[in-house]
Amino acid sequence: MKTFASSISKVFYGTLIHSRSIKEIEYIKQGLLFIDTQGKIAKLVKDVAQDKVDASLEGVEAEKVVRLTSDQFIIPGFIDTHIHAPQYTFCGNGHDLPLLEWLDTHTFPRESKFQDAEYARKLYSKSVARSLRNGTTSACWFATIHLGACKELVNIIQEQGQRAYVGKVNMNQNSPDFLVETTESSVRDTRAFVEYVKEVNVGNTSPLVTPIITPRFAISCDSELLTELGKLAAEYDLPIQSHLCENLNEIGFTMSLFPNSVNYTSVYADHGLLNDRTIMAHCVHMKDEELDLMKEKNAGISHCANSNFNLKSGMADVRKMLNKDIKVGLGTDVAGGYSPSILEALRASRTASVARDTETSLVVAELFYLATVGGARVMELEDKIGNFEVGKEFDAILVNTQVENSPVDVFDHDSVETHFEKYLFVGDDRNNEKIFVQGKEVRLPGAAVAHRK
Ligand code: GUN
Ligand code: FE
Repeated sequence: MKTFASSISKVFYGTLIHSRSIKEIEYIKQGLLFIDTQGKIAKLVKDVAQDKVDASLEGVEAEKVVRLTSDQFIIPGFIDTHIHAPQYTFCGNGHDLPLLEWLDTHTFPRESKFQDAEYARKLYSKSVARSLRNGTTSACWFATIHLGACKELVNIIQEQGQRAYVGKVNMNQNSPDFLVETTESSVRDTRAFVEYVKEVNVGNTSPLVTPIITPRFAISCDSELLTELGKLAAEYDLPIQSHLCENLNEIGFTMSLFPNSVNYTSVYADHGLLNDRTIMAHCVHMKDEELDLMKEKNAGISHCANSNFNLKSGMADVRKMLNKDIKVGLGTDVAGGYSPSILEALRASRTASVARDTETSLVVAELFYLATVGGARVMELEDKIGNFEVGKEFDAILVNTQVENSPVDVFDHDSVETHFEKYLFVGDDRNNEKIFVQGKEVRLPGAAVAHRK
């Protein structure tokens, strides 16, 4: 008979920090977290005194136990609900222009390079490694229109071990000659991409990579293509992602293209693209009825504050979204956002919320929730990831604030709470000592080695 001990692959003993709700961060001191061989959280015991650890292991061998120091703690991995893999190649550049001009000048020329699958393989390795290194254990990726490059992105994500939604981008209008598809090739290649990911996942009962239907935005896709994509999403029961109400010129142009829809959000709804598996990035300039439609359809929002500052799009009203009980997660939106780090997204979200309204600005518990559980809800994966509830898969960061060149200084007066808050606001990838996805430690190619004192 299989015993409990034999079903366990690893046990962590020490400080565990996660969101129990949007209002509450739970700080588990002297916690014992048991991970099973499937990568799931089998058991969580709180407040185990040092001298009681051995007796609490239920026969699990000592070599499977990782004892954390007082400089280390474990948190759930971050969830990036919106990031563009090809745009990492110009991350940090080009913030002088607003959205539509930025797309024409910087984005489309760079994305066109991904028609070369070899080039894609090289560049996507860097995008994914950088995202993982920053603690993003789950990401919703936009690739480009190119089928070969999209497959390479899936291969690399599989190799590096991230959990991901990967979208082949669709564009059949208002796009440059060097980055455009016909309706027919767009639908055909999207289907081929979905079939490819299905094949990669054959025999895997808990695959990490899922295809996601990805019309770039309504401006780039005509009504016929949007309709076909809505049908594909329904046929394969797939999630959907796009951009919505990011910039005022974008909204004006969209409404001129789709005069039969009452507002921008309805354009997607009218084409079968707005449901509980939809993730809409930005939502900066939403009318109340558009937010209400998002809620009615149970669609999620990826809040990309860093990008919204850089491209001068504006500041989304996250408080209003939360008051309406709409699902919200954080997105880096590289390269609209200059940082592939969800910690930076969290900080920009806080700044945006304070700049909007000091009285209702987001507090630490809310920000951490958005970066973890909120993202899981937006991906419709809250039963699987987001915090350390028993039965969920173990996607996590082992944080260490005493690494070489650590940006975080800890003093004797620090509590577990202030130690953690310093990581959120001062820490960076140097502090992400180990990263786990589905219970497995991610091996980061070329990652800086963390040194303990
Ligand atoms: N809208 C359409 N495409 C894009 C993109 O690549 N980035 C951002 N931020 N908005 C978009
Ligand atoms: Fe984007």
